[in-house]
Amino acid sequence: MTQEPTNPNPMPQGSAALGQRLRLREPDDWHLHLRDGAMLKAVAPYSARQFGRALVMPNLQPPVITVAMAEAYSRRIGEALAGEQTEHFRPFMTLYLTDNTSCEEVDRAAQSPHVLAFKLYPAGATTHSDAGVTNLQALDPVFERMAEKGVVLCIHGEVTTPEVDVFDREARFIEERLIPLRHRHPELRIVFEHATTREAVDYVRQANAPIAATITPQHLLYNRNALFRSGLRPHYYCLPVLKREPHRQALVAAATSGSPRFFMGTDSAPHDRTLKEADCGCAGCFSAPFALELYAQVFDEAQALDRLEAFASHFGADFYGLPRNAGEVELLRQDHCIADRLSHEGHTLVPLAAGQVLRWQYAGRLESSLPRSQSLQVSSA
Ligand code: DOR
Ligand code: ZN
Repeated sequence: MTQEPTNPNPMPQGSAALGQRLRLREPDDWHLHLRDGAMLKAVAPYSARQFGRALVMPNLQPPVITVAMAEAYSRRIGEALAGEQTEHFRPFMTLYLTDNTSCEEVDRAAQSPHVLAFKLYPAGATTHSDAGVTNLQALDPVFERMAEKGVVLCIHGEVTTPEVDVFDREARFIEERLIPLRHRHPELRIVFEHATTREAVDYVRQANAPIAATITPQHLLYNRNALFRSGLRPHYYCLPVLKREPHRQALVAAATSGSPRFFMGTDSAPHDRTLKEADCGCAGCFSAPFALELYAQVFDEAQALDRLEAFASHFGADFYGLPRNAGEVELLRQDHCIADRLSHEGHTLVPLAAGQVLRWQYAGRLESSLPRSQSLQVSSA
């Protein structure tokens, strides 16, 4: 393992005592990029190792715009996993909302057991969002149908107007797009994805139901200084971009508050190292390999480990109207250093928090959760 010369973001000390174990109901990742082809094969096992289910984003090239495409993608995800993992991990799919999405596609999505939501990318907001929506109001009949059928709308909440500062895009989206949208469709079930600002969590907390938000590990762990610590740090660049410290604190307060409106969604978004460390580096943090450990670090530092399970394993399933997972996973309090690079299937990936020490280590599913005749060694703490 190659070490970076300096640790860009040393983690503060956690509060729990040595030798502790943390047992959680099996968690779900409600916002995940799995990609396709060789990259899918490289990254899917990481999520399947830690999570029971995931909501898979549709921003492939070409985007996943129909139920038929989503079901084919879901099959490819299954094929990318080894047998035991397939048994343990269920991908749920999203459809990419475009200016041409039809009410009939909403009906088909509502009937599909594989599709849970549509994903709204404002055109130009992020990676592969060229096919995104240019005029929200023109889609009112589609939103109406989604509300009628109880299909969730997942939103990348940023305006894309070039004059608006990149750090203000989320707050402006809430004022200019989300509030009018919810006014027109109060029944529409919405997940405000990867909330990054105080404005977003305040809005979601006080809004009339049904609305919730996912929060990523990077926005909980880092403020925007992480992007510039001793030089430019492309592996901390994602969209929406990291914000100022008061926003990070507001996100930690929301995630650890015990409010069912906030739940886990990593937004793990792998890009090959060469595409991150480039003239025009891609947005996205690859957090899947250590996702639970990263969240555990946040909850530990906030002295809220007792609230991690609900955030990780209850509130998302409840919002999507699914049963909570039956199995359990375990983390051990054990310092470990995150690898600088992970190489698979011809791709080299730099995980979020590479080179840093985390205090909790994922130990696996508990034996009772494993399929027949399989057992997983959990080292004694
Ligand atoms: O940082 C990001 N990466 N934000 C997104 O919205 C998309 C994602 C990706 O697909 O790479
Ligand atoms: Zn995303």
